[in-house]
Amino acid sequence: MSVRRQLKLGAMLHGVGSSTSAWRHPDASADASVNFELYKKWVTKAEAGKLDLVFIADGLYINEKSIPHFLNRFEPLTILSALAGVSQHIGLVGTLSTSYSEPFTVARQFGSLDTISGGRAGWNIVTSPLEGSALNYGKKEHPDHDLRYRIATEFIEVARGLWDSWEDDAFVRDKASGVFFDPAKLHTLNHQGEFFSVKGPLNIARSRQGHPVIFQAGSSEVGKNYAAKHADAIFTGHETLEDAVSFYRDVKKRAATFGRNPDNVLVFPGISPIIGSTEEEAERKYQETASLVSAEDALRYLGRYFEHHDFSQYELDAPFPELGDLGRNSFQSTTDRIKQNAKEKGLTLREAALQTATPRSGFIGTPEQVADKLQQWFEQGGADGFMIGSAVPNALEQFIDQVVPILQQRGLFRTEYESDTLRGNLGLPIPKNRYVEQKDGVPSEDHQTSGV
Ligand SMILES: Cc1cc2nc3c(=O)[nH]c(=O)nc-3n(C[C@H](O)[C@H](O)[C@H](O)COP(=O)(O)O)c2cc1C
Repeated sequence: MSVRRQLKLGAMLHGVGSSTSAWRHPDASADASVNFELYKKWVTKAEAGKLDLVFIADGLYINEKSIPHFLNRFEPLTILSALAGVSQHIGLVGTLSTSYSEPFTVARQFGSLDTISGGRAGWNIVTSPLEGSALNYGKKEHPDHDLRYRIATEFIEVARGLWDSWEDDAFVRDKASGVFFDPAKLHTLNHQGEFFSVKGPLNIARSRQGHPVIFQAGSSEVGKNYAAKHADAIFTGHETLEDAVSFYRDVKKRAATFGRNPDNVLVFPGISPIIGSTEEEAERKYQETASLVSAEDALRYLGRYFEHHDFSQYELDAPFPELGDLGRNSFQSTTDRIKQNAKEKGLTLREAALQTATPRSGFIGTPEQVADKLQQWFEQGGADGFMIGSAVPNALEQFIDQVVPILQQRGLFRTEYESDTLRGNLGLPIPKNRYVEQKDGVPSEDHQTSGV
């Protein structure tokens, strides 16, 4: 009997929230971004709800215009390592930039988190959109968009090579004979590439899940190719089911073109559900949080996507300004979408800024209505799972208490963890050690294409 496909759920832990003013809400903890007790509470709650993973986003540059959460927050791997100690099953996925890090350090950090957590680590690869990041890393200039993806390509290849430094049974630790490891099962990478020179081996062995789960967030053409080739999961954002389906088909097809099994590239649209006991109550919650954002706040929020462009220089109620290529070297897929949307809908600057800063989630309503919509996106081929954000205070808790049980009753979501590794719960294969694969001559499961 075939097992019914179930959806996957991740919780974005985002401190005081991704909105510029959510921290001002009467129910919000204004110090949430650096409140470890809250993070512990959230991970415990998410695990009680049997969610697949918690997810920490990140950035490498702030200025006085950045949103409150970005100004004072935890570094992803540090907070995830702490959360590993208070959880048993849930995946721990952190964002780390390939444009401003060294592969040896990153492979080692994620290798350590993966072992500390017993095989629950995930790495959300980003290429860093913000130009200012260069100023924090002693670089003369921010690499351009496509160059960042070239760096990211070599980066992941090196990281994967380093993670395979030790075969799984390399450490003999035989006290009687004095043999600590089998030298035939130790492999030195000796990588000399365009951007990195890394000898190896790595000083930590593979975890129970082989390699950390690779997420990728980036939706331009190069971004999609990158994800289709290298990622186990893609974090994306769509306003309509139609867009979600077209993105989903697109990346699955690309994965097949790269010789991969498309089922092993999971697509997670990010959504921010707002739940009420009635539709009106949910709508009121949205309006209440949206009303905390002034037009000036919204302009600053919008500006960050466009390299902190000063939008206050334009007439607020005039048509959205012509910006040329501005924003294409930072959040390219996002800024392209903002410009296109403003043009197609004839938005004013005020409307475009408010829509960006206080997006009206398509997932607003009663628990049943939200569950219906998740089911629709899942069954109509727009998602393998969802990354749940919190647009209003306590949204995650309400989602877990009120929507998850409905999904479980419908057989759409697990009632118990299948595994205690992240790959196990996501249904992803364990990557074979490349050196063992060479010896065995059997390709890894991921490269046995099943078709789209
Ligand atoms: C859904 C989504 C989430 C993202 N999250 C982050 C993040 O947490 N940190 C970060 O530096 N960049 C983040 N990015 C930016 C991307 O990593 C990338 O640098 C940017 O989107 C430009 O690439 P693209 O044009 O391929 O989308 C995110 C992008 C998307 C689409």
